[in-house]
Amino acid sequence: MARLVGCVNTSHVPAIGKAIASGLQQEPYWKPFFDGFPPIRAWLDEVRPDVAVVVYNDHGLNFFLDKMPTFALGAAPQYRNADEGWGIPTLAPFAGEPELSWHLIDCLIDCEFDLTTCQEMLVDHAFTLPMKLLWPDGQAPATVPLCINTVQFPLPGARRVWALGEALGRAIRSWDSDARVVVIGSGGLSHQLDGQRAGFINKDFDQRFLRSLVEDPTWATRYSIRDLVELTGSQGVELLMWLAARATLGERVRLVHRNYHIPISNTAAATLALAVD
Ligand code: DHB
Ligand code: FE
Repeated sequence: MARLVGCVNTSHVPAIGKAIASGLQQEPYWKPFFDGFPPIRAWLDEVRPDVAVVVYNDHGLNFFLDKMPTFALGAAPQYRNADEGWGIPTLAPFAGEPELSWHLIDCLIDCEFDLTTCQEMLVDHAFTLPMKLLWPDGQAPATVPLCINTVQFPLPGARRVWALGEALGRAIRSWDSDARVVVIGSGGLSHQLDGQRAGFINKDFDQRFLRSLVEDPTWATRYSIRDLVELTGSQGVELLMWLAARATLGERVRLVHRNYHIPISNTAAATLALAVD
């Protein structure tokens, strides 16, 4: 059966893509963020995942407000990136793993998660940036994208997303394959891009949330979406991706590395890697 090796969660601010393209990783503004990655890449070199299941939220590139699935899973042989208007270079397509996609779809629908299945799917910065940060030289593993709506209300709640993550973890482990699989969660942490609270960041909440993922991983499921928007900003709800990714791993995890830096653009930028030994 497939082996789930751990998860890597990270923020996905578009400006990261520009910084990479311009080689600014060692500039004072960017260094504290990029310095979070070498220890995680060293761990990935050890565990050598064959597939990355990428849990992220689309921002209007593939799904727009007229049609917004709550949960959507990619089942394509490859996933194309396209220009979102942020000025980030468009990346080459990412390889899919349709056999795992269809296994996950079968398992998750059997567990009553009524996914939208996508045999064509454009992937935006929330998918491409973690891939580029974790595999900067383009040696990325095959991918399966799982999209969770955090754009068009109503959003799925934290408890539901946790349950989805648990079911996803069981489904990955039951795949009849020798593959090693890593789960990536892309989003957050606290940020708000518009409205009266634009620029809002809640360091205390973020730190508590980061600790909880190791010590008490269901801690954040006590909060409603309204609470999460209040506590973390209207885009801070992207932390749901982190919850789903963490929930795949089960109870016992080992902290590989964590990093927290305020701000990048408007976002409290964080990175957290957890291993299942
Ligand atoms: C920013 C953060 C995001 O999560 C996003 O999707 C776009 C922009 C920002 O802070 O600039
Ligand atoms: Fe975002």
